[in-house]
Amino acid sequence: MNTRTTQELQAADAAHFLHPFTDHLGLAKKGARVITRADNIYLWDSDGHKILDAMSGLWCVNVGYGQQALVDAATRQMRQLPFYNAFFQTATPPAIELAELLASVTPPHFKRVFFSGSGSEGNDTVVRMVRRYWDLLGQPQRQVIISRHNAYHGSTMAGASLGGMAGMHAQGGLPIPGIVHIEQPYWWAHGRGLSKDDFGRLAASWLEDKIQEVGAENVAAFIGEPVQGAGGVIIPPATYWPEIQRICDAHGILLVSDEVICGFGRTGQWFGCETLGFKPDLMTFAKGVTSGYVPLGGVMVGDRVADVLVQQGGEFAHGYTYSGHPVACAVGIANIKLIQQLDLVRHVREDVGPLLAEAYAQLSEHPLVGSAETCGLMAALLLVKDKARGTAFAEDREVGMLCRSHCFREGLIMRAVGDRMIIAPPLVITRAQVDEMVALIRRCLDLTLADVTARGWLS
Ligand SMILES: Cc1ncc(COP(=O)(O)O)c(C=O)c1O
Repeated sequence: MNTRTTQELQAADAAHFLHPFTDHLGLAKKGARVITRADNIYLWDSDGHKILDAMSGLWCVNVGYGQQALVDAATRQMRQLPFYNAFFQTATPPAIELAELLASVTPPHFKRVFFSGSGSEGNDTVVRMVRRYWDLLGQPQRQVIISRHNAYHGSTMAGASLGGMAGMHAQGGLPIPGIVHIEQPYWWAHGRGLSKDDFGRLAASWLEDKIQEVGAENVAAFIGEPVQGAGGVIIPPATYWPEIQRICDAHGILLVSDEVICGFGRTGQWFGCETLGFKPDLMTFAKGVTSGYVPLGGVMVGDRVADVLVQQGGEFAHGYTYSGHPVACAVGIANIKLIQQLDLVRHVREDVGPLLAEAYAQLSEHPLVGSAETCGLMAALLLVKDKARGTAFAEDREVGMLCRSHCFREGLIMRAVGDRMIIAPPLVITRAQVDEMVALIRRCLDLTLADVTARGWLS
C-alpha cells in the first residue's frame, strides 16, 4: 500500500523514473499524475480524484479494472508454476490452452500462435517471420514490407520502423532497411472533394503504385492497423481494406493485420479485420488479450504461412524468454473466457457501440467539431477552427492539448492526437456510463470552446 504523499512520489519519480514518450524536464516541473487504484471504468489518483478512463489504460483494459477472475488466475498460476520457458521442446499447460483458445476465437484459418511479451515484439516477430517464409519458398529477395505514414506498430527498432511516425523516425536513424511507407487512408486530410468510397479505392491504389515502384518480386508483406489507433482513430472508408486485400492477393503479397488495439472486441467483432472486411495472413495482438493485467503479445499465424514454417521450416531461430509465459497465458485464458461469459463482443456491436455512434452524431453538431466518427468502442472528434469551411487550427495553438487539460480537470481521460480527441473506453461500459462519458465530453468541448473564444483563436 502506498503511504507516501503525492509530492514525495512526484519527487522520487522525477529523480529516478524515465517515462516512455515523455519530455522529462517538462514533467519534472509539473510532477507526474500518480494513479493509485482503479475499479470498473474509473481510476483514482493519489489525491483521491476520481477519473473516468475513456482510454482503457492504453487501449487495453477491455474487461475493465478489478476483475477478480483475472487476479485469481494469476495467483493460482504463480503458486503452481510462476515461470517456465517454451524453448527446448517444452511447454506449459496455460500456454498450450491459450494457444488453443486463441485458435477458437480467431478466423478459422488461424490455428497457430507465436507468443511475445508485447505488441512491439509481436511486430518484430512479423518482420522475422515473413522474411523467413519467403526464404523457405526460395524467394529470399522478397524482403520489403510496406506500411503507412502515421501508423503505429510499436517502439522497438522494427516496430518503430514499421510505424510511420515522423517524430520517431527522426530519432535513431529509422526506418531500418527494407521498410517503406505509403500515405494513410485519412479522408479528412487527403480526400476531401472525393466521396469516401472513391477515396478508399484511391488510397488503396497507393499500395499498387508502391508495389510497382519496389517491384512485386521484392515485396514480402503489407501491414496495417484495421483502424489506426495512436495515429488518431483514423477509420478508413469501407472500400479501403477489401481493395488492399485484392491488391495483395494479385501480387501474392502477405497481408498483416496489426490487431494490438482492434483485437478482442474493440470494433464489435473479435478482430478488427472482421469488421473492416479482410482476411489477413498474420495478425499481431497484445493489450486486450490479457486486458493489460499482465504483459502478453503475439502473432496469430494463418495456414498459408504456418504450413510452410511447420512443414518445411526446420528451426526458426527466433523467440523470447517470455514467449508463452505461464502466468500471462493463465490471465489471457481467464480474460478471454470472461469476454465470452459477459458477451462483450456482442455488447459492443449491438448495444454500446451503436449508442456511442448516436451520441457522436449529436456531438458532430458542436461548433468546435469538424468530424465525429466511431467504430465499435473507438471514437474520434476533430476540433476545427471554422466548422463551415472545415479549417483547422494552426498547429502551434495545440487546441487538442488544451481540450485534454479540461478533460483532466473534469475527471475524464480523453487523449489528444494533434486536434483529434480520441477515446476507447473499456468494453464493459454500460449504457448509463456511455451517457455519463458523453456528458463529460460535451462539457469539456464547451469549456474548450469558451477558452479558444476568449483567446481570440476563432477569428
Ligand atoms: C497497433 C499497435 N501495434 C503495436 C503496438 C505496440 O504495442 P506495445 O506497446 O505492447 O509494444 C501498439 C501500442 O499502442 C499499437 O497500438
